[in-house]
Amino acid sequence: MTKKDLLGLRGMPRVEIEEILSTAASMREVGRRRIKKVPTLRGRLVVTLFFENSTRTRTSFELAAKRLSADTLGFSVSGSSTAKGESLMDTARNIEAMSPDAIIIRHGCAGAPHLLARSFPFSVLNAGDGINEHPSQALLDMLTMRDHWGSLEGRTVAIVGDIQHSRVARSNIHGLTTMGAKVLVAGPGTMCRSELSGLPVERRHTIDDVVGEADAIMMLRIQRERLGRAVLPSAREYAAFYGLDLERLNRARPEVLVMHPGPINRGVEIGAEVADGERSVILEQVTNGIAVRMALLFLLLGGREGGEDA
Ligand code: CP
Repeated sequence: MTKKDLLGLRGMPRVEIEEILSTAASMREVGRRRIKKVPTLRGRLVVTLFFENSTRTRTSFELAAKRLSADTLGFSVSGSSTAKGESLMDTARNIEAMSPDAIIIRHGCAGAPHLLARSFPFSVLNAGDGINEHPSQALLDMLTMRDHWGSLEGRTVAIVGDIQHSRVARSNIHGLTTMGAKVLVAGPGTMCRSELSGLPVERRHTIDDVVGEADAIMMLRIQRERLGRAVLPSAREYAAFYGLDLERLNRARPEVLVMHPGPINRGVEIGAEVADGERSVILEQVTNGIAVRMALLFLLLGGREGGEDA
């Protein structure tokens, strides 16, 4: 990979996605060692800059950087001068003065990582920008599917929920279709509207329209702040039309993969017995997140610049 940044999967060539997934698969071996560390990025500085909450993405990027021996520095809105009104660009200028090699940013505004990537020499990795993209999540999702299937070519993946506001859905749609998979989407009309017409997906109405056809069913988190408003009447109604419970799972293909990016609303978009059941690969997704993020840091920072091999 010769790029400086990871901003999204839209337009990313298949060969690049394959390189990331193959590199991630080889990175997993480091996690099985007694000493889970290689010197590949020794002396490099990786900064996490999260303007929105995160459990999985932030910790796994930090762990990935540490496993590659990079130094890490974490900024969050509540603990930094952003809370006093400092702008994104001023925050970034101050971090630049500390000579980082990469910034991993999550921001509520679509395009925030792109602005930093254009403005600064360090690598920028998008950890979620508004409703635009969450590329490392889609890459770890694809790695998880590839582990089970060998290839994504010809597979059918159903994404169910708030497609309209989901950066996870958008990145997966771009990545999966580039890799030769078919993507079905289902969600309430208010969450799955005309704006999707430009995306390479087949739109269905309820979960019952996709459940029997899919090799993987990816459930999206319902953003609770939308409940009770015009877009979504109630959690109970959502669960009735779009929730994945055991009764619906029994109508799916026997080997179907159940996926969720987290955090989960048990009993709303997914039943507890499904989330914890034998078809669920949700925790495999989390584990694969470390390997994918190691691969991204390795390829962007160390892969082509004389860094030591992993
Ligand atoms: N999937 C995901 O982005 O989770 P976090 O919000 O916990 O990072």
